Amino acid sequence: MFRLAVIGQPIAHSRSPAMHRAAFEALGIVDEWSYEAIEMAPEQFAERTEALADAGYVGANVTVPHKRAALEIAERATDVAREIGAANTLSFAGQIVADNTDGPGLLAALPKSPGGMRALVLGAGGASRAVVWALLREGAAVEIWNRTSTRARALADELGGAAVEEISTSEYDLIVNATSVGLQASPAPSGGDDLKALPVVADGFHDRQVVVDLVYGSDETDLASAARSRGANVIDGLEVLVHQGAESFRIWTGLAPPLEAMRRAVRES
Ligand code: ATR
Repeated sequence: MFRLAVIGQPIAHSRSPAMHRAAFEALGIVDEWSYEAIEMAPEQFAERTEALADAGYVGANVTVPHKRAALEIAERATDVAREIGAANTLSFAGQIVADNTDGPGLLAALPKSPGGMRALVLGAGGASRAVVWALLREGAAVEIWNRTSTRARALADELGGAAVEEISTSEYDLIVNATSVGLQASPAPSGGDDLKALPVVADGFHDRQVVVDLVYGSDETDLASAARSRGANVIDGLEVLVHQGAESFRIWTGLAPPLEAMRRAVRES
């Protein structure tokens, strides 16, 4: 059996197990490959992850709050993981190798390369790092806004791009929400209120924009809904999840990921 897992805390609601199992089924390899969710506290992460490697696991996805620690425990890291400063994909082939498919996954989810686009990234936390790295690598002009402006400046100093405090929604070709605004504690829609926490204004969205909201849940976020209703091309967090998962799948199995089966699984789970 080739064993895989996703490691995080909390992890019970992760859609990754359903997504990867659907991929194994679609390719007829479900009897050879498994993928489970493993909850780990930060203080257990290094020891328990190394134990998985010793126990014969092939690899793991790593999510909040362990992505930086995943890079630290690795014996080797790809340039992508090192440049982003975090890993979401580990492979255990003799040694622990760290990779990051969050940035490539975002790029794969976009309708075209963001090269030459003026892009606004909302947020300067863990999720933003991969976004800023990916957009810069493709040659976008990246501006970073964050509620706490010092964090936006620190991220721009480290990775590139420019920290901004005042923005005009309509001027961007691409807007990516990498904040946690819109993550719902309850499934009830918030009636548009979430936008107030962000600098964008609903009437600024238009049909020549691509708008990505990394947040996903049972309902469309206020940001996605405002952008979609004004004609923007909206990419939701599940589409980005599918593409990062697909890139990880390719790394571990060497097989072409069955995207449609993976997409169906995350939308149904
Ligand atoms: P993640 O790893 O998901 O990026 P994080 O590092 O905790 O998580 O970052 C959360 C991001 O959402 C940050 O950019 C945070 O802004 P601050 O740096 O000012 O905390 C942003 N965020 C969270 N709640 C927010 C809110 N109510 N309004 C605006 N931004 C918010």
